[in-house]
Amino acid sequence: MDFTTFVKPNGNGSELDNGAGGDASSQELQFWKHVAYIENHGKQEDDYEYCMTEFLRMSGIYWGVTALDIMGQLDRLERKYIIEFVKRCQCPTTGGFAPCEGHDPHMLYTLSAVQILCTYDALDEIDCEAVVRFIVGLQQPDGSFFGDKWGEVDTRFSFCAVATLSLLKRMEQTIDVEKAVKFVMSCCNQTDGGFGSKPGAESHAGLIFCCVGFLSMTHRLHLLDVDKLGWWLCERQLPSGGLNGRPEKLPDVCYSWWVLSSLTIMGRLHWISSEKLQQFILSCQDTETGGFSDRTGNMPDIFHTHFGIGGLSLLGHARLKPINPTLCMPQHVIDRLGLQPQILERP
Ligand code: FPP
Ligand code: ZN
Repeated sequence: MDFTTFVKPNGNGSELDNGAGGDASSQELQFWKHVAYIENHGKQEDDYEYCMTEFLRMSGIYWGVTALDIMGQLDRLERKYIIEFVKRCQCPTTGGFAPCEGHDPHMLYTLSAVQILCTYDALDEIDCEAVVRFIVGLQQPDGSFFGDKWGEVDTRFSFCAVATLSLLKRMEQTIDVEKAVKFVMSCCNQTDGGFGSKPGAESHAGLIFCCVGFLSMTHRLHLLDVDKLGWWLCERQLPSGGLNGRPEKLPDVCYSWWVLSSLTIMGRLHWISSEKLQQFILSCQDTETGGFSDRTGNMPDIFHTHFGIGGLSLLGHARLKPINPTLCMPQHVIDRLGLQPQILERP
């Protein structure tokens, strides 16, 4: 199965043009080029990059589905085939999801699968209780979570566990939430208010997103030192307007998501320059092929395209629908599910 099957015939996304000039300096969102880029993603079965990323196919579909929905263009993909693909990836023994058929189930792809199904309002197509059993079985006595049967522990998996269970509305009754919170808080670094992958590990914006998102879903944002962490996060903005994930690192479009969503959840989005960040993200568009890269001038990919669109949505771009900062899914889907992850008011 390749992504081609998920794309409706005759749609190449280029019927309309947004009227923007062809170069990055015009700084306008190349809306239809991005639609075409996502639609065409992986159309060539022999595409080297596509073959090499088989191990994260499920997340790739989540990135494409979410970005297209945010652009109001979800109907360009074949709902039926995507749902069939997701269903085939559910492991009949563990209940978890693999990135594609023939691979092992993992927490990361289980969340992506559930996110895709929620966006399509298709949770009834799978055995949700088996998913719950998979997640519950990965919680450890200290409250942390394994990513899969091989036993790696990381705060990413704490996020995936509560996000998946929240979407299934089964968080409170299933895992030990108190212990899960205690583990995540044991990964908080007193010096900068940030979080790492495990206790004592260096603060990293991706993992800060995971832990702040976790605390948002478990309604424990009062445990954060918002001023200290907010300060560290807004220091991630560089003169280019782009954000990095740690001191001394280069800016990267995906960090426009990890940092911006964390600041949004904490009610501190106004602590960075939105205008400069928007300019940086737009400078990372490929104005010929569509799609976003990590940095200006690099090759685009579906991961950075999703987070570029997501970041622009958080910044309130007029062409995009709102995205939920905690679950990184269209806000209308979160509203339909009746979920209310905690968000702090702007002071
Ligand atoms: C950077 O990774 C990013 C992270 C560590 C966060 C990953 C978050 C998840 C997997 C949770 C699911 C996310 C969503 C949006 C639903 P990296 O390996 O690229 O770090 P590097 O930049 O330091 O190499
Ligand atoms: Zn990146």
